[in-house]
Amino acid sequence: MKVVETIAEARAVLDATRAGGKTVGLVPTMGYLHAGHRSLMDRAVAERDVTLVTIFVNPLQFGANEDLASYPRDLDRDTAMCEAAGVDLVLHPTVEEMYPHGTPTLTTVTVASISAPMEGAARPTHFAGVATVVAKLFSIAGACHAYFGEKDWQQLAVVRRMAEDLSLPVEVVGCPTLREPDGLAMSSRNVYLTPDERAAAPVLHRALLAGVDAIGAGERDPASIRALMAGIVAAEPLAQLDYAEVVDASTLQEIDPLAGNLRLLAAARFGRGRLIDNEGATIPAPT
Ligand code: PAJ
Repeated sequence: MKVVETIAEARAVLDATRAGGKTVGLVPTMGYLHAGHRSLMDRAVAERDVTLVTIFVNPLQFGANEDLASYPRDLDRDTAMCEAAGVDLVLHPTVEEMYPHGTPTLTTVTVASISAPMEGAARPTHFAGVATVVAKLFSIAGACHAYFGEKDWQQLAVVRRMAEDLSLPVEVVGCPTLREPDGLAMSSRNVYLTPDERAAAPVLHRALLAGVDAIGAGERDPASIRALMAGIVAAEPLAQLDYAEVVDASTLQEIDPLAGNLRLLAAARFGRGRLIDNEGATIPAPT
């Protein structure tokens, strides 16, 4: 496995790969890798000839009062996990390498509408930061399949739409969320939780599953689903709910009455940690 810090070195390897008729898989990450990231790597390694993992804590996607400085990092452990997964290339660029003219960048990629609600409302500059860095990573990687987790459903929808709107030569592949045995979605940010908060955190997933069950039982009123999920999170004293929503799975817009492919999404703060999660539900079209 090769670890490089420059865009030019990564491009050289990937251009040679494609020139030799081989396919490229891309797994963008911010590092501090866990089994959720590993599942994306395993999929890319299984499906593509050469896999690139990028490890870059992207300053553009953090708000002024967010955890950029304290975001957990462990490059040695990360590269060991990449190596064990059979990854071929790791790009670990500096901020200067990615943003040679500094930040904020003059050029920004924004995906309207899909970026606006939920995470976009809570973190107004977040998705422009994500879309901009992912557009850069797609440009660096070139034609490839790029693997993203459903854990960050709104991010996946934003990235998918950006690649389509800009005709980028990248196929975006969504991968299922990996969870701890008690249902908590794996996340680099779970390290922020105290033992009590960690014990309380699965309430987010329980609320989402209750919403899915209610839809399965015939509930079609989005306000009832939102209230049901909010009530379950509110019953946990260590959780402070940010939002609990049910929206169209692709447009991320509200839909009333509920119909078609839906996504239930929730965010809550547990002490220092802000956790997000989501689940899907489908209402079959009437026959
Ligand atoms: P990061 O949070 O490191 O996540 C990298 C990728 O791993 C994302 O596609 C995310 O959805 C996926 N992932 C995280 N936890 C997961 C889990 N429990 N199960 C499955 N997949 C999981 O998301 C980012 O970084 C950044 O925003 C990035 C796309 C790299 C742009 O900077």
